[in-house]
Amino acid sequence: MIKIRPLVDSNLEQILSIENNAAPFPWSKEAHQDAIIQQYPSLVLTQADMIAGFIVFNYYLDECHLLNLVIDPSFQSQGYGKKLANKMMEQAREKGMKTVILEVRESNSSAIKLYERLGFKQIGTRKNYYRGNLKQDLAREDAIVMQKPL
Ligand SMILES: CC(C)(COP(=O)(O)OP(=O)(O)OC[C@H]1O[C@@H](n2cnc3c(N)ncnc32)[C@H](O)[C@@H]1OP(=O)(O)O)[C@@H](O)C(=O)NCCC(=O)NCCS
Repeated sequence: MIKIRPLVDSNLEQILSIENNAAPFPWSKEAHQDAIIQQYPSLVLTQADMIAGFIVFNYYLDECHLLNLVIDPSFQSQGYGKKLANKMMEQAREKGMKTVILEVRESNSSAIKLYERLGFKQIGTRKNYYRGNLKQDLAREDAIVMQKPL
């Protein structure tokens, strides 16, 4: 049984474990703690009470900013990323947001596919936005900026 509910403080360790399993450039514990302290809206998707993934976003004026979306590798490619992003957009619409914006590494093809599938369009790039991937000998990496009207 799949459920989507708000992330609560006590989920921190599970979220960190998913982040470290799944994301090539994981958010630090401090970044997650800060998001909780700042009360960024955040949701977890559970399957049979196990957290399969989470999404963190924020509202600024009439814009929703998707900050982080991670699905545990053992739960990927089952539509859960899409479900979480759709739920975020539903909540943002209810809050009166007019648009969603996000940045994604230009090498992150699975995330870019997901966002395109959801109707996001590239509106620009941010040069050297991310720290690099040493394995690929990249000092910095560009971000693709994507947007979707709500
Ligand atoms: C990106 C991520 C969140 C996708 O989550 P997911 O639950 O596997 O994605 P979904 O199953 O909902 O897939 C939705 C769509 O995305 C696309 N997609 C997802 N993963 C893909 C992959 N590995 N290759 C190609 N397309 C992919 C598909 O088009 C899919 O749509 P379809 O099934 O209707 O064709 C997941 O891979 C992840 O956690 N990655 C590591 C963290 C990360 O990079 N987050 C994004 C930060 S901006």
